[in-house]
Amino acid sequence: MRVPLLDLSEQYRSLTALLRTEVEDVFASQIFILGPKVEAFEAAMRRYCDIPHAIGVSSGTDALLAVLMALEIGPGDAVVTTAYTFFATAGCIARVGATPVFVDIDPLTYNISPDGLARYVARECNRNSDGVLVDKAGRKVRAIVPVHLFGLCCEMEEIIALAEGAGLTVIEDAAQAIGAEYPYAGHVAKAGTMSPAGYFSFYPSKNLGAAGDAGMVICRDETLAQKLSICRQHGMEPRYFHRFIGGNFRLDEIQAAILNVKLPHLDEWSAARRGVADRYREEFERRGLTTQIELPAEPFRGRGLNNHHIYHQYVIRTSDRDALLDHLIRNEIGNAIYYPLGLHEQQCFAHLGYSSGDFPETERAARETLALPMYPELRVEQQLFVVDKIEEFFTRTAVH
Ligand SMILES: Cc1ncc(COP(=O)(O)O)c(C=O)c1O
Repeated sequence: MRVPLLDLSEQYRSLTALLRTEVEDVFASQIFILGPKVEAFEAAMRRYCDIPHAIGVSSGTDALLAVLMALEIGPGDAVVTTAYTFFATAGCIARVGATPVFVDIDPLTYNISPDGLARYVARECNRNSDGVLVDKAGRKVRAIVPVHLFGLCCEMEEIIALAEGAGLTVIEDAAQAIGAEYPYAGHVAKAGTMSPAGYFSFYPSKNLGAAGDAGMVICRDETLAQKLSICRQHGMEPRYFHRFIGGNFRLDEIQAAILNVKLPHLDEWSAARRGVADRYREEFERRGLTTQIELPAEPFRGRGLNNHHIYHQYVIRTSDRDALLDHLIRNEIGNAIYYPLGLHEQQCFAHLGYSSGDFPETERAARETLALPMYPELRVEQQLFVVDKIEEFFTRTAVH
């Protein structure tokens, strides 16, 4: 039995008629960029996130780029983020001329470690005569970008308290976490809404996926929202008068039309993903495999949240990762490593001066983690086949 890591065809089948009508609508209107479909999608996302501003942009990457530009973060500034995330998070920081600063992860959640952050601020930074936080090289530390990796929110209460104490802006990377919830200050908060700016990616494989690239920034502050709207059109306002340097970060109508059809289904898809995760857990536990593999942590389960995890990826950990991966490939079971190398060890960041061993938990996660098939329509028999093959692998390893 072939089990893909992700299969979007079933989702497409269930929505084909509506998707075609909506896309046809765009062709009929001949409005292709930033038109009524984008406006409708922005309004729907404002309602979904219960937030006053949502600015549709061309990708998750461009969303962060636009936020950094709008906040005028650039040369001479440092921005702190996790060493264990998709490249875009740190790539954008570097592209605006700022310096990415990495912090290690929590080994259970794979998200940025609040203790690591606190240590960085306490040991590596000082306040200058203006009271601004600066690092040892004299760079102004401007922001923290926590990444809600795999669909699980970071420990935002601790991160925000730390950021407020240090005078740093928080920008939430919710690219993988749309709809994920966090028990923030006694209420339920959605990923992206807990800080001055949050952003999403609608890359096709995301839980809410477009048919190409698309992204969004959400925020509460009107001035920032206006600046972002201008930023996504080359800093232009009014037409052909450029207030500052932005980019072409516009969202197109076809992507927005598709996202409008899909958004109403997002929560039922997230619930189905959680059902898949629950079945993995039950099966791995029932077969006594949880000594060999570590299952994803669910720190916010039972805290009154629906989307305590949205399982963008279902990531397990085992010290025998590479051999298990070969076994899965031989059995035509989809898998992926997110991510095989920490950002501090990437060639393009060699000039930052980090070394192997700097972030032991990031490095261990890069060696030991593996994503298993996860999508709402994954059938029970497919899932049981995945678990059977993993059980077979560990039974054989135990015999040899
Ligand atoms: C954590 C994270 N940040 C940022 C991005 C960038 O989003 P996009 O691919 O839409 O540019 C991604 C996308 O994969 C991501 O996973």
